[in-house]
Amino acid sequence: MTRRALMAGNWKMHKTAAEAKLLAEQVAAFGQGVTDRDILLAPPFTALGGVAEAVKGTGIIVAGQNVCWEEQGAFTGEISPLMLKDLGASAALVGHSERRQIFRETDEMINRRLRGGLDQGLTMVLCIGETLEERESGQTMEILEKQVRSGLAEVAAAQMIRVVIAYEPVWAIGTGKTASIDQAQEAHGFIRRLVVDLYEKDIAASMRILYGGSVKPANIDELMAQPDIDGALVGGAALDAESFGRIINFS
Ligand code: 13P
Repeated sequence: MTRRALMAGNWKMHKTAAEAKLLAEQVAAFGQGVTDRDILLAPPFTALGGVAEAVKGTGIIVAGQNVCWEEQGAFTGEISPLMLKDLGASAALVGHSERRQIFRETDEMINRRLRGGLDQGLTMVLCIGETLEERESGQTMEILEKQVRSGLAEVAAAQMIRVVIAYEPVWAIGTGKTASIDQAQEAHGFIRRLVVDLYEKDIAASMRILYGGSVKPANIDELMAQPDIDGALVGGAALDAESFGRIINFS
């Protein structure tokens, strides 16, 4: 089964609305003629509308960096799936390690967010990954299994078509340290086998698993050559149009 590559930029808490719009236009220019892979941009909430407008008609997917499970209500500081769609977004990230570590989001909360987004028709990118301490104590696969199982709890097989998993080892995020190609492929293969167990072979075979953590123009080709790496979730290098342009045009 061939999976369509998904090249995603997570802009985190960077860029004003005007700066984001400009960057989106530049990315769209680099993405022109790219027809065999998907491009996704996750700007801050405040820039979503402008970015969606800037990439209209290009096929670029616009995503929120998080999403609440409710449509509306007393949830100060949260953004609902309907609000994301209203601004032109069709996807959302959940479970990013910065949400887990800094803002103490739990597996249960992340699962609710994921299901809430799926129920409203969004494509959901479930981010998972072990910390350095967990890797060094040999717990990597156990942690990944826990995050996948709880993240996908009660997600129906029919909805899995809109689920993407992003494997981002926490120790590789923003540190300049990329997981070795073998470490990345090993984790991706493990995640795919887990999805076979949880669902079925076809679902696992068509599900995209992205790698994230210090992805750069210099390492993207090698990463994308791995059988179970179907794309990238890029932080720092996605803030520069030329770098991200090179990443989306990997060979
Ligand atoms: P960096 O590419 O800056 O390491 O960030 C990765 C990431 O967290 C993307 O979500």
